[in-house]
Amino acid sequence: MIGIIGGTHILELKIEDLKELEIETPFGIAEVDLGKIEGFDVAVIRRHGRRKDKPPHKINHAANFTALKSLGVKFAIGMGSVGCLKEDIEIPAIIIPHDYIDFFSGITVFDRELVHITPGFDDYVRKKLIEAAKRNSIFPVIENGIYFQTRGPRLETKAEISMIKNFADCVGMTAGSEATVAKELGIKYAVLCTMDNYAHGIRGVEVDYREIVEKAKKNAEICLKIIKEAIKLIWKENYS
Ligand code: HPA
Repeated sequence: MIGIIGGTHILELKIEDLKELEIETPFGIAEVDLGKIEGFDVAVIRRHGRRKDKPPHKINHAANFTALKSLGVKFAIGMGSVGCLKEDIEIPAIIIPHDYIDFFSGITVFDRELVHITPGFDDYVRKKLIEAAKRNSIFPVIENGIYFQTRGPRLETKAEISMIKNFADCVGMTAGSEATVAKELGIKYAVLCTMDNYAHGIRGVEVDYREIVEKAKKNAEICLKIIKEAIKLIWKENYS
């Protein structure tokens, strides 16, 4: 079974033989949708909740990934909408970041043990996402980049963006935390992001969250097409 975690992009995702589970974990309850995508077994998490009641700083990443692990998930794919930090990148574009900065979340599953993982996105899952994106994307595919995670739910100030643009390529609120807990639990995780907007102040743009959601929804279709192909690639190489 392959884990899929998404936000706005996943709203339109059609799951066959859907079973809506609530899985209890030591960290709390996780909502997981079990089923099939194009015949392949998946466990899907809508990270903002079925009722869309979980803003980024309230998402229970530890419960979500612990639930995936309890289902036997070894590979997980994230989908995310990000702001573009680079003036010279034309958007929309797809980016599969190779690393991240997350100084603020403090996320971990190890609250009572001394465990210090070495964080990062999984290179195998990243390669499959790149392969799938190159085959299916009508937007440019950026194969490397640094994801800067902010805490949310608010967007960033111009001053914050003006600082972080020197160190990262895109900005979002979730993928760093997901990568950290996935690695702590031994789940191979990488993320496919759509660059839907220029971050605050980049190209003189004033950001507005409603606009971001609109654009993310528009770009979701291509993202889902890529994800379906990546599921197929990972499945064929590991489960058949
Ligand atoms: N900032 C933070 N998170 C985001 C953005 C942004 O500009 N766009 C999409 N997610």
